[in-house]
Amino acid sequence: MIKKETIEKVLDAARIEEVVGDFVDLKKRGTSLIGNCPFHNEKTPSFHVSVNKGIYKCFGCGAGGDSLKFIMEHEKYAYPEAIRYLANKYHIPVEEIERSPAQMAAQDKRESLYVLNQWASKYFKEQMWETDMGKSIGLSYFHERGYRDDIIKKFDLGYSPEAWTALVDEATKSGFAKEYLTEIGLAVERDDKSLYDRFRGRVMFPIHNLTGRVIGFGGRTLKKDKNVPKYVNSPESEIYHKSNVLYGLHLAKKAIIDHDLCFLVEGYADVLSTHQAGVEHVVSSSGTSLTTGQIKLISRYTKNVVILYDGDEAGIKASLRGTDMLLGEGLNVKVLLFPDGNDPDSYIQKFGASEFRNYVEHNQEDFVFYKTNILLRDAKEDPIKRAEVIREVVESIALIPDEIKVSVYIRQCSSLLDIEERILLSELNKIRLNKARAIEKKESQQAPDMPPPQGADDWFPAEMLAAMGAEAPSMEPVKVESAEQRMEKELVRILLNYGRELVVWEGDGDVPVAPYLLANLDDVEIVDPTCQIIVQEFSKQAENFQVPEAKFFFAHENQEVAALAVDSLVNKYEISPNWNDDKRKIYVPEEIEQLKMLVNQLIYRIKKNKIEVQMRTIQEELKITQNDDDLQILLAKYQKLKEGEQLLGQLLGNIIVK
Ligand code: CTP
Ligand code: MN
Repeated sequence: MIKKETIEKVLDAARIEEVVGDFVDLKKRGTSLIGNCPFHNEKTPSFHVSVNKGIYKCFGCGAGGDSLKFIMEHEKYAYPEAIRYLANKYHIPVEEIERSPAQMAAQDKRESLYVLNQWASKYFKEQMWETDMGKSIGLSYFHERGYRDDIIKKFDLGYSPEAWTALVDEATKSGFAKEYLTEIGLAVERDDKSLYDRFRGRVMFPIHNLTGRVIGFGGRTLKKDKNVPKYVNSPESEIYHKSNVLYGLHLAKKAIIDHDLCFLVEGYADVLSTHQAGVEHVVSSSGTSLTTGQIKLISRYTKNVVILYDGDEAGIKASLRGTDMLLGEGLNVKVLLFPDGNDPDSYIQKFGASEFRNYVEHNQEDFVFYKTNILLRDAKEDPIKRAEVIREVVESIALIPDEIKVSVYIRQCSSLLDIEERILLSELNKIRLNKARAIEKKESQQAPDMPPPQGADDWFPAEMLAAMGAEAPSMEPVKVESAEQRMEKELVRILLNYGRELVVWEGDGDVPVAPYLLANLDDVEIVDPTCQIIVQEFSKQAENFQVPEAKFFFAHENQEVAALAVDSLVNKYEISPNWNDDKRKIYVPEEIEQLKMLVNQLIYRIKKNKIEVQMRTIQEELKITQNDDDLQILLAKYQKLKEGEQLLGQLLGNIIVK
């Protein structure tokens, strides 16, 4: 039997468009993808795939389902075979259950904890709806706060009696084990090992997972006493991991998909009230700052989030950082503020549902601008504070993965902050550079034995590295750059370090490395903007038969250019403690001797890579081209590129390291 965890991982990883895309040629149409149905014969496509919903549907023959269903139907696989197929596709190791007695107990234990929570939830409901105390204390509390019965029932709210062992006694009578009661936090153990109820005299909010099973509880006090904690919550347990749970998500997910939008509120009460007001695409982080796990949960259903803050400015400022995380995950974030310290719950109770919906509709503000404005209001005309504001705002923008959005924000914030775009951009570059450095540092700490040229280990053949005195690394470094970028950086490194070195080239005579490289790569476009600036400067000076010196770039106005120049030289000369071993000492002089080979190798590799990129583009075009003439042209182009690639491959193979 396949483990449940494996199945969950597989279903999580499967992207409907990729799974179906292996068998059906899909084209984009509106918000969905469309193609010819593989389950019946058709000439005009009626087979739709919704990426957001993770499902397919044929309006011709009615076939429909998720990724798993598709594979079962299309490949005529049984359930486990289909899981294995998808696991293989997404490189997920399939773990089988060989249930040892201990494992069986563990599995049974998780199940028992679920059952116990389910039982407790039912118990709390019965206590509230069916006992006099429950009705007069618990239910009337909810009624006084304005919640309707249908909402109270929808959220399975309940009441825990004001007694030390009401639940413990009842649970024991029903046969639940003591250790499960404490493990899941319904009961607390005293020193003398006796148990008492955790949630005495509180109204109960069950917390559900995505499939609607109860995994924990929040219990609210009914006392006004400030010394009593307002909420007592279930502790973390094997089935309750707070950082991966959003309150209300099981009831909200469909509405979130439908609206392609998620409202994020602070408390249980806010979720209840918004539902009562007819707004169901709402979840709560339950008063804590957001975790990446929670953000990933949201982004499964939508990329658009509106945060509903209550009006307390201190609280808002504290939560700005947490909100930044949403940007980092690529979500579009807006904020909405309620007037006079209201939260969504109190606003709805005071002004009613339609006024609430109207307010929400008209008062959303983009998070980055909002943050800019409130920080600016604080800084007033103080220049030091203003500088701090600029840094903080650009820090938020730097998190956004989408470059187009970044440039739009930079432009708009430049006018908000009344500061030149150029300055914001240079701040942005500084922040990104520091971040890249931090990543690099972390990597070099993790893998100290890397050969010094940047990324060379990734694309120099092992035998060549060996010949140079460096061993091919046994551990793969974490990759942050594309192969293209790495090659371009290596080009810059060679230009800066050896550009003036005179080499005798076969057929070309004595030419310094720089003009030789440039002449051989003049049909290649450099894509990395920083590398591009440096290479262009070399080209410009080459027209006057000059080769710029590396230090020319050290004071370059573009900070990334300056940083890259420094790094490139450091890679040649600096002997860091990690490098100070025998291998490295051989490496540096060897590199100069092998310069000719190194340069040719680089030229071939860059060209080969560019050709491969072009080939991939053509492959994509081939997939969608239907016109026969176009097809022939593309195929011919492809064949030409293929020949070029093979030739370069041979050339690379022929470079023999002496
Ligand atoms: N919370 C908590 N423990 C506390 C206070 C708050 O766990 N002592 C969490 C709860 O999940 C709560 C959320 O933080 O829902 C937001 O707090 P608050 O706005 O005070 O709670 P509401 O749910 O709005 O409760 P109420 O309106 O009844 O005061
Ligand atoms: Mn509240």
